[in-house]
Amino acid sequence: MEVEGLFKGFSKLNRDERFQRLLEMGALSKADIDYLRAGGVHDLSLADNFIENSIGYFQLPLGVATNFNIDGEDIVIPMAVEETSIIAAASKTARWVRQAGKLTTEVVGDDIIGQIQIGKVKDFSSLEGILSGHKKAWIDELNEQVAATMVKRGGGVTDIILRKVERGDGETMAVFHVLFNPCDAMGANLINQVCEYLKNPIEEKSGETVTMCILSNLVDSKLTVARIEMKDVDQELGEKLQEASIFAESDPYRAATNNKGVLNGIDPILIATGNDWRAVESGIHAYASRDGQYRSITKWRYKEGTLTGEFRAPLIVGTVGGVTSLHPTARLCLQMMGIKSASQLSRICAAVGLVQNLGAIRALTTVGIIEGHMKLHIKNLTLGVGANEKESHLLQKALEQLLAVKKRISHTDAIQLLQKLRRGSSLQDSSAP
Ligand code: MEV
Repeated sequence: MEVEGLFKGFSKLNRDERFQRLLEMGALSKADIDYLRAGGVHDLSLADNFIENSIGYFQLPLGVATNFNIDGEDIVIPMAVEETSIIAAASKTARWVRQAGKLTTEVVGDDIIGQIQIGKVKDFSSLEGILSGHKKAWIDELNEQVAATMVKRGGGVTDIILRKVERGDGETMAVFHVLFNPCDAMGANLINQVCEYLKNPIEEKSGETVTMCILSNLVDSKLTVARIEMKDVDQELGEKLQEASIFAESDPYRAATNNKGVLNGIDPILIATGNDWRAVESGIHAYASRDGQYRSITKWRYKEGTLTGEFRAPLIVGTVGGVTSLHPTARLCLQMMGIKSASQLSRICAAVGLVQNLGAIRALTTVGIIEGHMKLHIKNLTLGVGANEKESHLLQKALEQLLAVKKRISHTDAIQLLQKLRRGSSLQDSSAP
């Protein structure tokens, strides 16, 4: 699918033109644009609602990745991130994907997990008997007393399982898993309430002591999947991408960096929408280690011109409550994507993560990472050495020339070139600052 109309030439627009384009797309309203122009949230008392001892806001740059067509829908992706080139790479790779194939997503499984720990269990088999005798009544009671609204929406507690966990000190730990379908919500508060409610019945019936109750971030019972299928991919490139994938599937040292690249696509959306990115990160990393070795959460294969890629991991997010509803920028970003449910946001995150990964491994297996990074890094170097507005254009050009010759540039190069510029010397021969 060609890049049409509203996405076309987006990266070449200036900020006002970008606002205008986003307005035409319906991604932003006039009020949103005024709010962004004024620098976003300023209300310090709002910060007091989020955290303790607040003294201000930490402003990250907010940008939009374009060209994304996810499940047949064009979507503008808001990304709050400090790292140069992430948004450019996402937009560029999304354009390639939409031109050569399709990007689809789904959520597999319904239930999130809550844990109830009995640190040192006295009689595990008696606990098993108590659970099988009371499971149905407990589930009914939880659904009536704690999760009634969720039951009305088609969710609620679905199962309770007992696990024996070895502690390595001769004692045995018992852990109940409460499985809970939060429908289209994130469900964190509800699952914690459910587990805390169940603590008393468990203790009363068993005489055991519950140590603690909390949700698990390793939600292997509800996975978000994104898939890319692209046709007519050059054989040499396709095979290199497959090799890059096998590297990350097999070697934890590479898997860590591969997954960091995937999260380059996911974390900025989580931050822009006020989500708990630490929870998503811990869930993804734990899932990546599920067979005892840390592995890639993406997989790419190439066969006869067709490249297929898949992301599969827990990616539990929220779209109502807390920061997602109260922070005006988070609300604006959710509206920009037309988010209606937590699972929709989760699917978009997975899709962008997979595209980001494809962009990274394409660069790594072809031109290398330095080229793209450094070209954009030049802007930061220019700012970092204190070039004024007049000098910065000339300095950027000179650094670009130097990069083309030396294939790398440094902070020292930028300082030397700026000094040369200030001495009034020509920057033409920038290969020798
Ligand atoms: C840099 O932020 C991310 C990469 O290292 C990811 C990767 O190696 O796949 C480029």
